[in-house]
Amino acid sequence: MSDKTVPDPRRLLARPGPRAALVSLAVGILTAGAALTFASSANAATTLGASAAERGGRYFGAAVAASKLSDSVYTTVLNREFNQITPENEMKIDATEPQQNQFNFTNADRIVNHATSRGWKVRGHTLAWHSQQPGWMQNMSGTALRSAMLNHVTRVAGYYAGKIDSWDVVNEAYADGNGGARRDSNLQRTGNDWIEAAFRAARTADPNAKLCYNDYNTDNWTWDKTQAVYRMVQDFKQRGVPIDCVGFQSHFNSGSPYPSNYRTTLSSFAALGVDVQITELDIEGSGTTQANTYRNVVNDCLAVARCSGITTWGVRDCDSWRSGGTPLLFECNGNKKPAYDATLSALNNGVTPTNPPTTPPTGNPTNPPTTPPTTPPTQGPGGCSATVSLNSWTGGFVATVRVTAGSSGTNAWSVGMTLPSGATVTNAWNANRSGNSGAVTFTNVSYNGRIAAGQSTEFGFQGTGSGTGMSPTCSAS
Ligand code: XIL
Repeated sequence: MSDKTVPDPRRLLARPGPRAALVSLAVGILTAGAALTFASSANAATTLGASAAERGGRYFGAAVAASKLSDSVYTTVLNREFNQITPENEMKIDATEPQQNQFNFTNADRIVNHATSRGWKVRGHTLAWHSQQPGWMQNMSGTALRSAMLNHVTRVAGYYAGKIDSWDVVNEAYADGNGGARRDSNLQRTGNDWIEAAFRAARTADPNAKLCYNDYNTDNWTWDKTQAVYRMVQDFKQRGVPIDCVGFQSHFNSGSPYPSNYRTTLSSFAALGVDVQITELDIEGSGTTQANTYRNVVNDCLAVARCSGITTWGVRDCDSWRSGGTPLLFECNGNKKPAYDATLSALNNGVTPTNPPTTPPTGNPTNPPTTPPTTPPTQGPGGCSATVSLNSWTGGFVATVRVTAGSSGTNAWSVGMTLPSGATVTNAWNANRSGNSGAVTFTNVSYNGRIAAGQSTEFGFQGTGSGTGMSPTCSAS
């Protein structure tokens, strides 16, 4: 199916009447291969989904929360503009298998039915991930975890077989920063082959879904993380591990900006023989600046024949996990933003694809990516609480700390705890750390200080020795 994603310039020419004759003439005069503009304002598509469909059968989708499907302002925009859905949280492991071997598809089904009853595509998100694991899974390790993960993949992909266009089989398995290493997680500690094992199980469970690897901070072609994921996909293709697509989350903001080499990234991955998709697009900002970045992203996707679709991470700004950054295409009242107009006109003006896609990577990449985005922001100081869960083995442990905001949300937080004697922290993620034994303090990093009232974020650290008996305290501002 992916080979059919070349934009189709025949749309205009197929229309009868004097106007078509004129257009036909004009197109005939222009030489083939130039970056033609297909649509005129008279017959341009008027919604994102319709316009994307005209660009070689692409889709334009949104992440959807089941709880919002009863909001008529939300569904009016959703139903009019989009033709693909990704469930925002409802297909994650904690939602679909809250107790081991007890599956719950109620909320995911509501979203899937909303999409399939309208003929839209569904992206399954996500089968295997270090985050949003149910408690029972967070506490597992080794072969027990490996088989629980594979069972999860098999059961969930099997249940939805036939309904899912693309699955994010594995999400966010690479670490940020230099070196392009895998992210430490309980899944990673089951063995480096956990990713391919998940892909093979997914293929068996649903042979027709496209199977994708999905990540963030893989947009900049020069970054180590991008290159590491590229090498993994290249290796999978060479060894016949079933992978069909790569998702680029593309959460852009000042700390993780849209890179000018984004098109090179998309085309280079596509050249490996996979589809590429922009899976969680949001661009913080406003007005013309934000609109221009949306335009660039759309043009980059259209320029790569195997870029088969774009999904924004939410519908309206107030639906966004980063609502403070107003990163989406619609205002809360459903009105279109300048970014919407830029997106639609870029789709309607569809640049011709650069085909075949460009260069494989060369040399050693540089420039570390900034650290990850995680949890949703909001305003206001307030209290907080913290809990710790441990994954221990002889001589070491990983602690996952959940920080939950009090009644008025946080702008910043600090978590203190005393390590048992003999324990030492070796590394931490999603938090700044001071001290590595005895009394240790963790504070938020730039992207996870702001937590909405009652919401939470997680950070973690790895240590040697025993981590048993730590009791964290939390303070917020
Ligand atoms: C986010 C959701 O939008 C939030 O509602 C939730 O609290 C945390 O997860 N990368 C992903 C998505 O793959 O699943 C995340 O979604 C955003 C970052």
